Parts: sequence; structure tokens; C-alpha cells
Amino acid sequence: MVSRVIPVDTFDLTIFGGTGDLARRKILPGLYRRYLAGQMPDASRIVGAARSDMDDAAYRDEVREALKEFVEPHLVDPEALEGFLGCVHYVAIDATGESGWRKLRDLMRADCVRAFYFSVAPSLFGALAERLHEHGIADPQSRIVVEKPFGRDLASARSLNRTLAEHFDEAQIYRIDHYLGKETVQNLMALRFGNVLFEPLWNSQYVDHIQITVAETVGVGGRGGYYDKSGAMRDMVQNHLMQLLCLIAMEPPSQFEPDAVRDEKLKVIRALDPVRPEDIVRGQYERRGDTPSYLEDVEDGDSRTESFIAMKIHVSNWRWAGTPFYVRTGKRLRARQSEIAVVFKDAPHSIFGAEAGRHRNVLTIRLQPNEGMTLVTTIKEPGLGGMRLIDVPLDMTFAEALGAENEVTDAYERLIMDVIRGNQTLFMRGDEVEAAWAWTDPMIERWSTRDDRPFRYEPGSSGPEESSMLLHRETRRWREIRE
Ligand code: BG6
Repeated sequence: MVSRVIPVDTFDLTIFGGTGDLARRKILPGLYRRYLAGQMPDASRIVGAARSDMDDAAYRDEVREALKEFVEPHLVDPEALEGFLGCVHYVAIDATGESGWRKLRDLMRADCVRAFYFSVAPSLFGALAERLHEHGIADPQSRIVVEKPFGRDLASARSLNRTLAEHFDEAQIYRIDHYLGKETVQNLMALRFGNVLFEPLWNSQYVDHIQITVAETVGVGGRGGYYDKSGAMRDMVQNHLMQLLCLIAMEPPSQFEPDAVRDEKLKVIRALDPVRPEDIVRGQYERRGDTPSYLEDVEDGDSRTESFIAMKIHVSNWRWAGTPFYVRTGKRLRARQSEIAVVFKDAPHSIFGAEAGRHRNVLTIRLQPNEGMTLVTTIKEPGLGGMRLIDVPLDMTFAEALGAENEVTDAYERLIMDVIRGNQTLFMRGDEVEAAWAWTDPMIERWSTRDDRPFRYEPGSSGPEESSMLLHRETRRWREIRE
């Protein structure tokens, strides 16, 4: 099975922040892979825009270095690399001033898709949007792509939305949450709405609880300045984990269309109960050996920001009343492991008697690494000696099942191609982002005003002990985070 590549229309993509980290690590490598795959038409152009004064040749050298560093070595083909670099241009631009804008306008062509990637601090979004209009660079078909963090609370997100809306329609604004571009995250929708098997059971009558885990092994060193002002709640829960929860909990949209999907996600966010303080556990990693602690990484011995959070969430609607969603995410945990586990209820009556023990079906969707799904089913233990039951996993790893040539596409590649196609299904709508902040704000405010201190946890663990208690007290337990 080989991925189908449908070429997109010819485009001019301008990357503001073209020399920045995201451009080097994700955007440019993603575009190069699409070029290699034959999806990016040769006549397309990528225009790096940043403050530094340099010409096309110097920028191409920078891009070449970035690609060599961040693209898989077997994909770095000298001929393809030069072909791709032929599409790359550079404009030195002052986001808040006047220089460079005329040159950018002169580069734009009438007959192709114009997209502008705002890979810069949100404080510059307004200035960029305004300049693009003032100089007649953006047209009504142009698209802008904005990165997270989209605000740091409801008020700032609203203000950002208003600023962008002064110059662009909602249909032109692509708010990225790269989790939505992950292959397995989309597979969640295929699984739920492409099979008859699961949907009848997908509710509180059959599901005991759901666990969402996004565990990372990295710390926050290197980006401590940003992270310490955000914490796990703003950095991960308000966006990535919230999106996963929405896809699991939402009603079937009538079509796989941007607004149909986003309407259903929004309904989930609006149905979330406020989380009680006793249902939230926050943590900070300690030092281990030579590896610095969170407080050392952020260079603030008194920081109260969390590098780990676990919480119990209720979705107050007909489908989910009474089924808790436990979510957790953290840095410096035992392993990099992101998964969603749907834990079904016990069979209503065991015909096998008490000695057969307790058995439950668990459907696990692994987002990374080792993307795939496992369904734990109960069967008879083989052999003589009566009816003994055991749980065995029906395991599917996508790379094995679908063949190596179906390499998992990086989220950014898919999302950038969707921008060019004009498909907003995997992007967040303004009201969704605002609703997510409206839900998280009171929790953040509560612990900030009470000056709560996060619990400490050992690096390489599953987070603070108190997080296990969240489930233990209800005779449940977290799934293991395994190396
Ligand atoms: C980013 C967060 O949005 O997502 C990071 O800011 C986090 O803190 C990253 O490490 C995780 O993304 P992924 O794709 O590696 O799971």
C-alpha cells in the first residue's frame, strides 16, 4: 500500500519567522518532504521573511543546513535538495515598520494560492495582519496560519481573535494545533465513525472511564522562560489534550467537513464541568544526578508553575454523564508515550463465577511512538482444567499492518498542505479556542491566587504519587507508562 499523493495548487507561502526554530525544525523540512513526494508543484515558492538582512543565496544556505539537520538522512538527496532550494526566496522585513513590504508585494503572483505563516510571537500577529492589508499583499482568498500559544487566557485570545478579524475572515484563519495533524489522531475519527462496532458502546452505559496520557521524557531546559509562564495546563491541556478529549467525546458530525466537525467539538468543550480542586494534581520534577530540576531549568527557585498535571474531568451530557475522563501530561516522565485508553465496564453478569476473576475490555489508541491500536479481549485460557479466563491483546501496529512505505507523515506537512487546499477541518476555530480558555481560566486563577505549590516528582517516574491517588480512591488505576 503506498500513500496517495494528490498535488496541491501552485502556491506562494510566506513564512514570517523564516529563520526561527519552528521554520527550521518543522515547516521547511515538512515542505521539503512534500516536494520530494511530488505534492508541491515546482512553480510554488516559499518566501522566508525575517529581520536579518540577507539575500536569497544566504537564506538558501541556511535552509540547506536546516534540512540536513532535521530531515531523515535517507531523504536528503542532493539533486532534490537543490530543486527545492530553487523555490526558496528571502525578504528582509520589519514586522512593525515599513521596510521589506514592497519587495514582498512584488514577489506575489496573481494566479496562485497565497498563504502567510505567522511563526512569530503572538504580539506581532496584529502588526503583520495590518501590513499585509495595507500593502495590498493579502487578497480575499489568502490564508494566514497562526501558531499556538493562541493567547494565554480568555481575554487575550479574544483580543487576538478580534485583531485578526479586522483584516481576515474566519475562513481565512488557520489556527494550528499540531496534534490534529497526527496520523493516529485522525485515525480516532476513522475508528469511531468508520466502524459500526464501537459507536453503540461509546457511552457511559458501557464505558467505565477514559484515560488520556501524553507523557514526555524531555524537560523544559532551553525554553524555561516561555514554559514557566505557561505550565502544563496552558502548554498542553488547553490545546492538545483538549482536542484529543473532544475527538473521543464528540457526537458524530453529519459530515467530515470543517464546521460540522468543529461544531461538535465545541459542544464538548461547553459541556465540560468545572474541575474541583481535589480532582487536580500538579507536579514539578526534581533533580536527578546531573539532570537539573524544574526549578533549576526555569531559574526560579520559587516558581509554582507545573511541569505535570493530572485531572479528572466530567463531560456533562447525555452520552457521558457518570464516565470520568482522566487526563495527565508531564515532562521528564518515564517514557515518551501518548495514548488514549477506553476502559469498558465489566460484563453485567459473569456466568463463569467469581473464580473467573474480573476482566475488562480496554481499547488503547497509541498516538506515539509505535502508532497503533490494541483491544484487550477476554478469552479462555487454552488447555484442560476448566474455564479459566485470561486477557489477551489484539494488537495492531500501523507500520506493521500497513507496510513500511506508509511512513507516518509529520503533522506539520499534512497541516500545511491542508492550508493550501483550503481545508480547515483540522484547525481550531476562534470560538473553540475561546471556549477552551473559558474552561481552563478559573482553574488557573484559583491555584494562582491561593499560591498552591505543585507536588514534587522524581524524573523518570509517572509523576507525583498524588496523581495515582486520583484513581486509587475510586478503585481505578492509571495505565503504566512504560519504557
Ligand atoms: C508543544 C508544546 O505544543 O507540543 C511542547 O509546547 C511539547 O511543550 C510538544 O513538548 C509535544 O509535541 P509532540 O508532537 O512531540 O508530542
